[in-house]
Amino acid sequence: MKKTTILILMIIACTTLLKAEDGHQLWLRNHAKIAVRVSSSHNSAVLNIAKNEIINNWLGRKDAELKLNITRDASITGDGYRLERSAISARTDLGLLYGTYELLRRQYLGKAYEKFSSNPSYSRRILNHWDNLTGTIERGYAGQSIFWRAGEAALTVTPGDVELWTAYARANASIGINGTVLNNVNASAKILTLPYLERVKRIADIMRPYGLKVYLSVNFSSPVSIGKLKTADPLDPAVRKWWAAKAKEVYALVPDFGGFLVKANSEGQPGPQDFGRTHVDGANMLADAVAGYGGIVMWRAFVYQPSEQDRTKQAYSEFVPFDGKFRKNVILQVKNGPLDFQPREPFSALFGAMKQTPVMAEFQVTQEYLGQSKQLVFLSTLWEECLNSDTYQNGKGSTVAACTDGTMYQNTLTAIAGVANIGLDKNWSGHIFAQANWYAFGKLAWNNKLESKGIADEWIRLTFLDASEQSKDNNFVKPVQEMMMQSREAAVNYMMPMGLHHIFAEGHHYGPAPWFSNPKVRVDWTSVYYHKADSLGIGFDRSRTGSNAVAQYNEPLGSKFNNLATCPEIYLLWFHHVPWTYRLKNGRELWPELCYRYDSGVKQVRGFQLTWDKMEGLIDQERFSAVQSKLRTQSRDAQIWKDACLLYFQQFSKKEIPYDMERPLHDLDDLKASDKSKTYVSPHL
Ligand code: GCU
Repeated sequence: MKKTTILILMIIACTTLLKAEDGHQLWLRNHAKIAVRVSSSHNSAVLNIAKNEIINNWLGRKDAELKLNITRDASITGDGYRLERSAISARTDLGLLYGTYELLRRQYLGKAYEKFSSNPSYSRRILNHWDNLTGTIERGYAGQSIFWRAGEAALTVTPGDVELWTAYARANASIGINGTVLNNVNASAKILTLPYLERVKRIADIMRPYGLKVYLSVNFSSPVSIGKLKTADPLDPAVRKWWAAKAKEVYALVPDFGGFLVKANSEGQPGPQDFGRTHVDGANMLADAVAGYGGIVMWRAFVYQPSEQDRTKQAYSEFVPFDGKFRKNVILQVKNGPLDFQPREPFSALFGAMKQTPVMAEFQVTQEYLGQSKQLVFLSTLWEECLNSDTYQNGKGSTVAACTDGTMYQNTLTAIAGVANIGLDKNWSGHIFAQANWYAFGKLAWNNKLESKGIADEWIRLTFLDASEQSKDNNFVKPVQEMMMQSREAAVNYMMPMGLHHIFAEGHHYGPAPWFSNPKVRVDWTSVYYHKADSLGIGFDRSRTGSNAVAQYNEPLGSKFNNLATCPEIYLLWFHHVPWTYRLKNGRELWPELCYRYDSGVKQVRGFQLTWDKMEGLIDQERFSAVQSKLRTQSRDAQIWKDACLLYFQQFSKKEIPYDMERPLHDLDDLKASDKSKTYVSPHL
């Protein structure tokens, strides 16, 4: 028998021994073991992991010799690496680990790797866990927290914890993620008490050899709630002393602690403004406490007050005057859009506008507003759209990517964050395809120029196909990739096309409630505030004659958004209140176009079902059935979105739903009645 045949038989033998596919192995499913020798000039915990990965997963030449080399090569930066036929070179041990994962991935995918090199776009690539210390997860849809739990033994570290945290660290390292914030931005002050810090230390010890730095979200009033001080005023010497001592305590336990993430004066969280101070006062005070240890402060720009001012303008108005006033170890963490992780938003005007302050993008990996873990929505295209958006802040080509990765403003502190979608569910993310969002976040954080198409292709192959199947055209990869690539646009279509936003049911943010309005809740938490539908038209007027949010965008963008004729139609109802009879570029009037968009979204999901059903037998039954069932739910719920929005808005447009379109299946009254949020239907209807 030829060597290659033996090899293939060995691979098949190994893969058929695989246990049932519950998704726990994520994109790391290789079990092959072809003999290989690995050497390195020195030893370290990181290199031990790299070597073991190679020994356990090598798919190259039998008995090959591979060297892990530390090099001073100037073309490699940060934890970047270069792959050769018989060596991986990097400046750091972590670079060698990242190179190891890339090399093994390329072997698995049957891709060449000689001379492949790669450097990270951002130096800090961080997951934000919105995990509460009680074990629940804010906006988590994959079970309880992997870090925290309630009950008597809440803080005991079990062998199960160690196993899970190790698997988590490995998965992150394999895609280049190098930081993790362990607790919710709506932070409990308890996280800074000794029993919790001791658990943080245990977690950090496990993360360290995989290159993950641990960070914590902190509550601004911790000096009062756990420190027994009378104030948390950032300019009060006793408060500054308290934070300095707390930082010392943290660093004694976790010497490479990454720093603090802070949500201050936002949605009821305490902050410096409670004491008449500014965001700069607050951020700089914390920055001073950690600076001596190399720590950073990620200060969130997600702030808005229940005021008359258009909510989407508030962060910009608040922070731009502070540009250049923050300490060097402060970075402003800005959500991709100016509102709140909607299916589609224009980029936040803060990107590029802060020219002397490092700014990092915050993406939401967990699908709070995009179908949670019930719907297949590949978010990579959303993030790619944001990263590639041109802010024009420093001339043409000032993309969000360039304004955040140091190329535009030469910041040395660069970072990117993703709100994690990880929980105790066996498959980590609740939906097998939600794993792709974790994967894509890591890949884009490492290389912000990657295209989603390639990321999807790679993820599908790693997740569903064995190494031996990669070269076969098995009718699986392409259709599934197409489905993923369309999925975010489909969600936009059946939820909020043409720039509509925030018309979700209150609280859970899953289903539609365009009717939602309640005098008892702040107006900018209601749907009617955002869509402003009336007899004339629909949409939020943010033009110069409206809230003038367009003025926050640099020219020529501000004028482009301001003008109804030049505003991209994907953002039309975001920036304009548009008459129902307004004629669009395709010749249709607004009302029928809205109807067709909703309908096309539903049709797209029905198409996904069809695509997926044809995949039966091409992958394991367990994951096939799980996805099939989720797609059924998604189809039903897309129909609900379409029916709720069209029947509700029809009351204002007073026009027929085009007759060549599938009719609604539900009654508006039934949909309203089944809306579980505490809705109050405005009296004018
Ligand atoms: C959204 C989300 C909240 C979260 C907040 C934030 O509003 O619904 O649960 O706390 O964002 O990012 O701080």
